[in-house]
Amino acid sequence: MNLAIFASGKGSNCRVIHEHIAAGKLSAKIAIIISNVANAPVLDFARTNNIPCRHLAREQFTEIGEFHDALLRVLSEAQTDLIVLAGYMKKIGAPILQKYYHRVLNIHPALLPAFGGKGMYGISVHRAVLDYGAKISGITVHLVDEEYDHGPIVLQKAIEIDEGETETSLASKIQALEHRYYVEAIRWFADGRVHINGRQVSIISH
Ligand code: GRF
Repeated sequence: MNLAIFASGKGSNCRVIHEHIAAGKLSAKIAIIISNVANAPVLDFARTNNIPCRHLAREQFTEIGEFHDALLRVLSEAQTDLIVLAGYMKKIGAPILQKYYHRVLNIHPALLPAFGGKGMYGISVHRAVLDYGAKISGITVHLVDEEYDHGPIVLQKAIEIDEGETETSLASKIQALEHRYYVEAIRWFADGRVHINGRQVSIISH
């Protein structure tokens, strides 16, 4: 299964996916890494590890259609089977969602549909969770549709919020969950175990 990873920042999830593949724990290939940020650390990571990568951003094109065409061309050249968003800060355009229908995955550092949407990224998600007084938080892996942090849920894992929890302590607990379970969800796709019926995603056990 050929993965196209979209990332805007540090790319720790991307690194974990790469490590699992290198260790033979995930039968997939990172065919391309795409970033909208020219100097994103994830692009350095790609170059260091000889993974094909591209900086592609809306601002490089006059018309949005040209941007989508360029993305579609790169995705097609990479023979993409699954698009994996790993900290990608932009919306995915309709032409890409149409071509890769039900084949675009995202991970969000909270339990959707709470604490999602525009502006809910990085530490602000954890701040909102703590400010609200939530007693649990977690991660959500979902299929992407045209709204931010929206679409059929593939996997959720929850953790308890401890007494005296801080934004940073919560962030590190959540990151550990992401690193453990994003690969798991990708593996379900690689193994052809994901069955989608409307909003309902079920994982077929072998
Ligand atoms: C993760 O918290 C993910 O849930 C969110 O963006 C962050 C990406 O982190 N969508 P990294 O760049 O993979 O370290």
